[in-house]
Amino acid sequence: MSSATRRPVILDCDPGTDDAHALWLALASPEIDLRLVTVSGGNVGLDRTLANALAVTGLAGACVPVARGAERPLLGRFRSETAVHGDDGLAGVVLPRGGEAIGGLAADAIRDLLRGADPGEFTVVGIAPPTNLALALATEPALAARIGEIVLMAGAWGEGNWTPAAEFNAASDPEALAVLLGLGVPVTLVTLELTAQALVTPARIEALRRAGGGACLAASRRIMEATPPSRRMGGRGHALHDPCAVAWLVAPELFGARKAAVSVECGQGPGRGRTHVDRWGKTKGEATVTLPETLDADGFFALLAERLARLP
Ligand code: RIB
Ligand code: CA
Repeated sequence: MSSATRRPVILDCDPGTDDAHALWLALASPEIDLRLVTVSGGNVGLDRTLANALAVTGLAGACVPVARGAERPLLGRFRSETAVHGDDGLAGVVLPRGGEAIGGLAADAIRDLLRGADPGEFTVVGIAPPTNLALALATEPALAARIGEIVLMAGAWGEGNWTPAAEFNAASDPEALAVLLGLGVPVTLVTLELTAQALVTPARIEALRRAGGGACLAASRRIMEATPPSRRMGGRGHALHDPCAVAWLVAPELFGARKAAVSVECGQGPGRGRTHVDRWGKTKGEATVTLPETLDADGFFALLAERLARLP
């Protein structure tokens, strides 16, 4: 893959079991030039998510800079999701300690990188409460012109997974999501309805086992095995949310998508964090958001196995 076709990517995460697989997929994919990883609190507290991001990138032997970011959303506090990710954030799977984070804050690191970029050069992938991304771009909105696409794992057009109304990342910081939706940068929104198709089952875990013997693949498999099945998925397994956002960049042919108008509810009521996704043009909203709706799940898991097998 020539460097000319590799996408420079900034990835914002809150590892998090599914974030770990997303990081490994990004690091293993030649289509992606991962230039910065930023970390926020979310699935678990920031000290833990940061240590996990460093351990995950370290296990892959990656030298990508990792920056410490927001400990709390723009308003209020992060509520962790330890029921899914465990208190440690990786479902109890212990990885060797990673390296050190770079100095300074994630939002500043994002801005520093974008200031030196060409128009539309960077792709931003957000798989966490989008606080770091909003902080970076709300304080210097002109830098949005250096971003060609923002891919977010966030939201749902139907039922949420954090509240009946809202998906976890959107619910954690709806104001931050509103900032990103209002930038005028093309946004691709990977929702719960898409990620529910990326269902981890025992058969798919077994296929990972057969794919290779590296430490990252083994750790990925152990994390999948240790992640509890989701009641929302009928106990059949759990959705692999975050790697879907990376797979969109690596293998778009696995997806079917449409344009839709999307807004996010920022009130304090029971609908806080709900993403209003207008798939049928029923509102006056402009259908600017790319909304992946279908996933070739077998192709997705085959991609994940093939790529992670390339890692140490
Ligand atoms: O709702 C799923 C999302 O919230 C994923 O990004 C998961 O890691 C959590 O951050
Ligand atoms: Ca995440």
